[in-house]
Amino acid sequence: MGSNQSTLLGVEADLTYTSADFERVRTLIREVAGITMTEANQSLVLSRLAKHVRRLGYDGFADYLAFVTGPGRGAELQVMVNALTTNTTRFFREPYHFETLANEVMPNLIERAKNGGRVRFWSAGCSSGEEAYSLATVVLKSFPQAASHDVRILATDINQEVLSKARIGRYPAGGIEAVPPDLRSICFGLGSKVGDTLQVSTAVKELVTFRYLNFVEP
Ligand SMILES: C[S@@+](CC[C@H](N)C(=O)[O-])C[C@H]1O[C@@H](n2cnc3c(N)ncnc32)[C@H](O)[C@@H]1O
Repeated sequence: MGSNQSTLLGVEADLTYTSADFERVRTLIREVAGITMTEANQSLVLSRLAKHVRRLGYDGFADYLAFVTGPGRGAELQVMVNALTTNTTRFFREPYHFETLANEVMPNLIERAKNGGRVRFWSAGCSSGEEAYSLATVVLKSFPQAASHDVRILATDINQEVLSKARIGRYPAGGIEAVPPDLRSICFGLGSKVGDTLQVSTAVKELVTFRYLNFVEP
């Protein structure tokens, strides 16, 4: 840690984490992912990155950050980005958006698709897929023949871990109780229960493509 005179932060007694380390993380995550952090995020950085500092065998953030930004930075930098993104999501989060889609947007899009036009949706920052699958559910409810027209949903995120979950499409049943029964049956179909989880229906899944995409890259 040498000449680093900045304040010692946080609660992880065995790891050295200073305000200068936080500033480096803050600059880095803004540069690579466009994510803005404030001083209020100091303890969040510690709690989310401490296990990675330990996994790599470092006893302080300074060495960890030197590694992450050094020649081998690619893979470990992605791990850091995964750890620092906030992936809050749920099915039909912000119900008003989905009502507007169904009532005001879908009628024109159905016309367009039926006339041979192309219809595209983008779940930008899709997290673990709940938003994209909610979109697909609304599309199929309004337009059950969507799959036989040029209708597709693209779902993208910078976090590879949440993208893996999204591609699997299996969710804890408890998180789905608030979804109205008619939408639930389209989204999950019959016989989709596996233990305490529900599997997204094939019809819904087939409308959605998940891809890695970072908004701050070209
Ligand atoms: C709070 S979640 C929102 C999920 C979903 N859109 C919803 O509203 O339910 C925000 C998502 O944006 C992603 N994200 C953050 N920075 C990004 C970037 N630079 N490029 C792409 N995705 C990013 C995060 O990984 C996270 O999954």
